[in-house]
Amino acid sequence: MRRAARAPLTLLLIALPLLACDDEPAPVLSAEELLDPAACADCHPTHYREWRGSMHAYAAEDPVFRAMNARGQRETDGALGDFCVQCHAPMALRLGLTTDGTDLDGVPPHLRGVTCVFCHTVDAIEGTHNNPLRLAGDGVMRGGVDDPIQAGGHAMAYSPLHDRHDPRSAALCGSCHDIVTPRGVHLERTYTEWLDSPFNSDDPTQRTTCNDCHMPGRRARIAEVDGAPIRRHHDHSMPGVDVALTPFPEADAQRALVQRELDPMIVAEVCVVPRAGGAEVEVYLENLTAGHSIPSGATHDRRLWVELVARAGGETVYSSGVVADGEPVRYLPDPDLWLLSETGYDAEGEVAHMFWEIARTEPVQLPSPTLVPPGSPGYVNPHVGRRYLVIGETPDRVDLRLRMRPMGLEVLDGLVETGDLAPAVRAAIPTFDLAGSALTWTLDAATLRVTPLAGREAWCVPR
Ligand code: HEC
Ligand code: HEC
Ligand code: HEC
Ligand code: HEC
Ligand code: HEC
Repeated sequence: MRRAARAPLTLLLIALPLLACDDEPAPVLSAEELLDPAACADCHPTHYREWRGSMHAYAAEDPVFRAMNARGQRETDGALGDFCVQCHAPMALRLGLTTDGTDLDGVPPHLRGVTCVFCHTVDAIEGTHNNPLRLAGDGVMRGGVDDPIQAGGHAMAYSPLHDRHDPRSAALCGSCHDIVTPRGVHLERTYTEWLDSPFNSDDPTQRTTCNDCHMPGRRARIAEVDGAPIRRHHDHSMPGVDVALTPFPEADAQRALVQRELDPMIVAEVCVVPRAGGAEVEVYLENLTAGHSIPSGATHDRRLWVELVARAGGETVYSSGVVADGEPVRYLPDPDLWLLSETGYDAEGEVAHMFWEIARTEPVQLPSPTLVPPGSPGYVNPHVGRRYLVIGETPDRVDLRLRMRPMGLEVLDGLVETGDLAPAVRAAIPTFDLAGSALTWTLDAATLRVTPLAGREAWCVPR
């Protein structure tokens, strides 16, 4: 642990009057120490370990973030200002230790990223995007426990804004997970997507907040102090799609968690209508587990695509989405490519990858699951389909694979070209294969049914 030397007790006692209230027991961490996640590890070792491998801890270390911000500051002559650091290094910004994020190396590591004290001192949410969170600044750690044992460490209090049962907890997460750029482009929309989904229900028994899915609970003590009861420990690893690209704590564990979340995310179906001299192949995808669209968040950076290979007698007769390791996917010479992502365009209508250039976007996403019955107002068909035409031979086998990269390699190439990013980072970008949606179609494995896209009979797997 980094904090080998604890401040001597006398020093802590001097700091006490800063924080202590009359009716609360004396806290033992100084205001200074509360800012340091490592100071939480003595009593909350598991929360600390989970958080330190998370993208929240990595948010200001991420070399791609640093490179994009540096380039953005240069290309806008500094007009970008604190736009990026307001979410990626919010504590450092509010302490006045950075203004534009180009000097993050000079900020002590424990104040970079989305830190414990940032989330846990929020006492008001003053908007819907671009991190409008207000911090109390009173040293009181707020969480979803309504009867904390107040056994040292710090002052603490129940907060509905943190409690997964309260819809406002989704606003706490969501108002950082929704970005409107200085040009007014709504570039990341995870919160808005969730708001429009059936998971945002007025009925508390139907409602599923971000925490419900992203902070799964288990029975455990939440503080390693004498007399601490068993409660619900909320996991702080929060795996998504991104992983650390440079050496970072818990990197292997975090990557395994990402894979575990991605595997069941999408259900796929392959339907084939064999024809003399070819076949028509329909592929259906449905969002099974995400409480918003897929991909979400940094959709313009994500690359999620369908790899489809049709064979006859062992020979490939058709393929789409076959991408070599290290090959960018967006500009593949493949007219049938089914890429789920978002294309940004600049003011001149040219494809643009960088936040500050993008004037409009065209997203291609899977919608969130729906509870609205077909035919009713607001119904969005969750089965999204595409048709592929195989011309030549009639395939006897079709293999489907869904593949995902957190970041398009062509985006990184742009950053390497301008000298903002080390080429080694590009090589560290993983390609995840989603095990739950891998399928092999053969006539023997298929059943005859009417397809949703063309409404005609076809041989389908897996149903
Ligand atoms: C000396 C021990 C100690 C240290 C150090 C410590 N805590 Fe705690 N913390 C506790 C105890 C005890 C509880 C209450 C546990 C219970 O009631 O089961 C608690 C509860 C919490 C809660 C829940 C409050 C609620 O009502 O929901 C949060 C949030 C929290 N701590 C955050 C932190 C953070 C962040 C740090 C580091 C800056 C930290 N703690 C450091 C002892 C400590
Ligand atoms: C991105 C925001 C965020 C960050 C960063 C964060 N937490 Fe939390 N934490 C939460 C939320 C939200 C809850 C309450 C979940 C609920 O009750 O639904 C929580 C709950 C807790 C609790 C109460 C016990 C539990 O599991 O519910 C403790 C203790 C805690 N966090 C400690 C920490 C520590 C220590 C760190 C840093 C090492 C940290 N948190 C970083 C959001 C955060
Ligand atoms: C019903 C469960 C569920 C709810 C509710 C939910 N999510 Fe997700 N989320 C998922 C799953 C599943 C994934 C995809 C697997 C993964 O990336 O880990 C995901 C992915 C993500 C990602 C990465 C997305 C990407 O493609 O880049 C982010 C960021 C995220 N969620 C944030 C949120 C926020 C913020 C909220 C609340 C406003 C929320 N989620 C609500 C289940 C949920
Ligand atoms: C202060 C702003 C902020 C708050 C509040 C916040 N996040 Fe995040 N979150 C971020 C940033 C920034 C990243 C991305 C860091 C990176 O990849 O460089 C991130 C990453 C994530 C990821 C991983 C996404 C991926 O693709 O890997 C998930 C999941 C996530 N957050 C969920 C949550 C949940 C759930 C909450 C509420 C408990 C929350 N966040 C609150 C800023 C925030
Ligand atoms: C409103 C908060 C917010 C602002 C402002 C913001 N980000 Fe982020 N950023 C996030 C969140 C949340 C994620 C995680 C989203 C996800 O994983 O889907 C993220 C992820 C990222 C990532 C890593 C994931 C990826 O694949 O794209 C990079 C790089 C990044 N942001 C760069 C930037 C830069 C550069 C800026 C300024 C031009 C910026 N961000 C402004 C919240 C923000």
